[in-house]
Amino acid sequence: MSQSSLSTKHLLGIKQITSDDIYAIFKTAKDFKEVINRPIKKVPSLRDITVVNLFFENSTRTRISFELAEKRLSADVLNFTASSSSVNKGETLLDTVNNILAMKVDMVVMRHPAPGAHHFLANHIDANIINAGDGTHEHPTQALLDTFSIQERIGDLKDSNIVIIGDILHSRVALSNILCLKKLGANVKVCGPPTLIPKHIEELGVGVEYNIDKALQWCDAANVLRIQLERQEVKFFPSLREYSIYFGINAQRLEKLQKDITILHPGPINRGVEITSEVADSLKHSIILNQVENGVAVRMAVLYLLSGKR
Ligand code: CP
Repeated sequence: MSQSSLSTKHLLGIKQITSDDIYAIFKTAKDFKEVINRPIKKVPSLRDITVVNLFFENSTRTRISFELAEKRLSADVLNFTASSSSVNKGETLLDTVNNILAMKVDMVVMRHPAPGAHHFLANHIDANIINAGDGTHEHPTQALLDTFSIQERIGDLKDSNIVIIGDILHSRVALSNILCLKKLGANVKVCGPPTLIPKHIEELGVGVEYNIDKALQWCDAANVLRIQLERQEVKFFPSLREYSIYFGINAQRLEKLQKDITILHPGPINRGVEITSEVADSLKHSIILNQVENGVAVRMAVLYLLSGKR
């Protein structure tokens, strides 16, 4: 595989990359998707490169997907979980990372609750940094895999209509998806209760629709977000039951449309709240497990392309 390169040394957010970077990631991910579907799923592309996965927040999909991507590329992999580390003894983020890098680590994949933690690190260390989620700010590889999955399903995204539904206010997935989809020429709307739509979101070039049925009728694909109860210190809507009545995606809503639309969810799912099991598991609409499969290929592409910037 020829190694083109990205315009940046780090993947801090979608904001910092170009549409050419996104297309380069997608082209490389397509090649890696073919590799991971072969009987022998491993390539030597990152042999002699050591990657640490630093997770200061919970994760299932992103952590496992990065680890698998790194192993498929033959990297040496270290996993760090904050809850069992010396962070609990008061060590700072920078001291923790510098100690790990002193062991000759080349690339850092990090999830951290503080928005901007990756930008801070990028100003202090030499290794490549990949943002695996920073608080409510960005989750760039999730947006890349979501967008790659939509494109795989519906084709070129230019002038396509994509709606992001639900808890936009607390979602790093929403911001990264909006930035990524807009860079590829899609029309984007957000839909949810007014209390979960950030003020001034239109300044990002997106529309706002409060009526879920109108939003579904408008779109080619809908990315349904999780209600992030753990980030909600006050009540943003009266009850989960009411949320599900007004904004939940169910089979009756999809059957009323005069067309088939594609349904995504970044996971983890609150089944029966933002989406019913019938829709989440439907092969006709849902590409949720394709997203997970594509996540490994997309993360392989990001790691591989950034390793060329070392
Ligand atoms: N979509 C996502 O980021 O899932 P995890 O929190 O399980 O990594």
